[in-house]
Amino acid sequence: MGRLNLSPKVLDVLDFGTPSAERDISRGLEKCFVESAAYQRVRSGAKTILMGNRGSGKSAIFQVLAKRERAAGSHVIELSPEDYSYELLSSTLESEEAGSWAKQGAYAAAWKYLIYILVMKALARKGMRLTKNGGREIHRYLRDNHSVHAMGTLSLLISYLKRLEAIKIGPVEAGLRTRELDRLYKLEEIHNLLDPLRRVLDGQRVVVLVDELDRGWDSSEDAKAFVSGLFQACVSINALHPNLRVYISLRQELYDDIPSLYEDAQKHRDLLERIHWTEDTLLELIAKRIRYSAHEKGFDIDTLERAGDAACWAAVFPGVPGRSSLDSFRYIVDRTLYRPREIIQYCSEALDLARGRHRRLPVPYAVIERCEFAYSAERAKDIAAEYRFQYPGLFQVFEAFRGRPAALDRDQVEMICLELATGEIPTRGTESWLPHCDPDELIEILWRTGLLSAQTIGGNGFLGSHQAQHLNLDSAQRFRIHPMFHTCLGVVPEKERGAV
Ligand SMILES: Nc1ncnc2c1ncn2[C@@H]1O[C@H](COP(=O)(O)OP(=O)(O)O)[C@@H](O)[C@H]1O
Ligand SMILES: [Mg+2]
Repeated sequence: MGRLNLSPKVLDVLDFGTPSAERDISRGLEKCFVESAAYQRVRSGAKTILMGNRGSGKSAIFQVLAKRERAAGSHVIELSPEDYSYELLSSTLESEEAGSWAKQGAYAAAWKYLIYILVMKALARKGMRLTKNGGREIHRYLRDNHSVHAMGTLSLLISYLKRLEAIKIGPVEAGLRTRELDRLYKLEEIHNLLDPLRRVLDGQRVVVLVDELDRGWDSSEDAKAFVSGLFQACVSINALHPNLRVYISLRQELYDDIPSLYEDAQKHRDLLERIHWTEDTLLELIAKRIRYSAHEKGFDIDTLERAGDAACWAAVFPGVPGRSSLDSFRYIVDRTLYRPREIIQYCSEALDLARGRHRRLPVPYAVIERCEFAYSAERAKDIAAEYRFQYPGLFQVFEAFRGRPAALDRDQVEMICLELATGEIPTRGTESWLPHCDPDELIEILWRTGLLSAQTIGGNGFLGSHQAQHLNLDSAQRFRIHPMFHTCLGVVPEKERGAV
């Protein structure tokens, strides 16, 4: 590995990015973007449902995709939380109990209606190229139905739902009800426009991106029907034409929180892309950002490219005293659940601390240790917050591991789990789930949420849920509290990996 020396002036501009891709996109995200195989599959349209945990890079993929599609002349429609409000939906619509609503189907129809209208509007906006190839019908329909009071996105969706609601639970005669519902479900109002739309799409491409569905998530009946209806609509619309692609991103917990969505997703597993990171790709991500910043300060790009990822790291962060420089990277990456936002957060904090005290690169090793506590405490809280609907009070369950040794035998973990379930270790706010958990179930939850990694029979290391999607946890005899939680919970650490 070659050495790379960076002057202290790079320290002034060095920027690992903001915690979210929406803000990163104007700060060079595209140039620092790690183009994974997952991105390629999404870009090609083979995968349209993007799944990943918070901070794993869902928005980054969508942001870069949007930018590149726009550059290639496609129409891009981005829907984000300003366009949906779960609270408004719940307060506007009658509840399922008020009649035989079958909300998911209603939402699916409303979503299809909304997305088709948005797509047609986007196509109509650009220079009226629609007039050829049967675009005239589309134009006429939009002019007659959607021009005067251009409704906001959510209003358009709600208006369609309201039409369904009126028939479903309003005073409508039974025979008429079936006919009317059939018309609404089949989108009769725009059905005859789908052929012309196909013809227009032969020459133009439209990409619809629905991101951040979890923001404002309240786990309500409407929120669930909203998301599972969108999923169905997405699958159906994507069958219309290869030049029309609807993409949605889903956070893992959201998906686990909606049983009907889970079932649908099983049927359409081939469309699902799960985001995964490894140590190597996370190192690549940081190295790209170091190169980008150094280049901004006039460093020759070829020299930077020639220096491998490890050399870029070593130019900024030192090794553990007396050991390889990559050990400091491993130290940090071991304290993550392999999500870019975490490594960016840790590195940025180290850098901020270094800037305040020293003016040299690489930064002193001590800063890496010094920012660990704040990082650890924040991550533990964030993880608990991430699961607040499924496992309220999870942080208190984490607290039961305070002061314990980092590695525990199965018996010890089972005992803690039992004490938690029976209330012998008291917790607050966990009544809805914790008392019903047997030790195996609680172990599974703690493994899934990241607190524990497990060593299975025959396996040599400990694996967390960020490293292995499935693990036979029943056969695990030893567990380890993830180092990310150590300083926050005052866990007694074992020897670091590779330590002599
Ligand atoms: N493939 C990638 N290449 C470069 N940076 C990335 C990549 N994926 C994510 N990031 C960065 O990681 C952080 C978190 O990503 P983000 O897309 O906001 O996560 P999510 O939307 O899944 O919560 C952002 O700063 C983003 O720019
Ligand atoms: Mg996001």
